[in-house]
Amino acid sequence: MLIRSPEQDIERILFTEKTIAARVEAIASDLVSRLNGSRPVMICVLKGAAFFYIDLCRCMNCAMDMDFISISSYGAGTRSTGIVRLIKDLDCNITDRDVIIVEDIIDSGLTIQYLKQLLSARNPKSITTVSFLDKCARHDSSLKTDLTGFDIPDEFVVGYGLDYANYYRNLPYIGILKPECYR
Ligand code: IMP
Ligand code: MG
Repeated sequence: MLIRSPEQDIERILFTEKTIAARVEAIASDLVSRLNGSRPVMICVLKGAAFFYIDLCRCMNCAMDMDFISISSYGAGTRSTGIVRLIKDLDCNITDRDVIIVEDIIDSGLTIQYLKQLLSARNPKSITTVSFLDKCARHDSSLKTDLTGFDIPDEFVVGYGLDYANYYRNLPYIGILKPECYR
């Protein structure tokens, strides 16, 4: 692992702060119109979705409950281990509620599949899935979320909540990490 500085480690910026903010606003109004007046439980999948979740909730002009779940499938690598582990469960009861799962990125799709199974067993009224990014070439189209911020190529990205071994989560933009940092 070779981590130096963003100037040295980021190959190029995919989405700037401004581009991200505009897309988040559009997703927020799309979600609100789908809700039809219902008060959803907004679920943040920690830690990667934290920035997206907060910005999204702040843009949604409606009543909501906010809750957090933490799962891990990665360890310190750049590919999922395939084993998803629940680290922190929700605090609230989602039975008969409209649930919106907010994810950072869909890669293999294993995490979102696991989450949908876990939460649908609790009999919510509905589940809507939203992911900020989607590496659509990496998974079957049946695993696509209901709403997506941006489709991206199969490259390892960091920033706006996404990390490499906990580095670069707090960058305000999405950038491609140079492969030399993890090879
Ligand atoms: P999946 O289970 O393979 O779909 O992996 C989803 C999780 O892997 C995401 O929630 C991220 O935490 C992590 N992940 C996948 N691709 C990237 C990436 O390019 N950068 C940072 N994290 C990633
Ligand atoms: Mg995640």
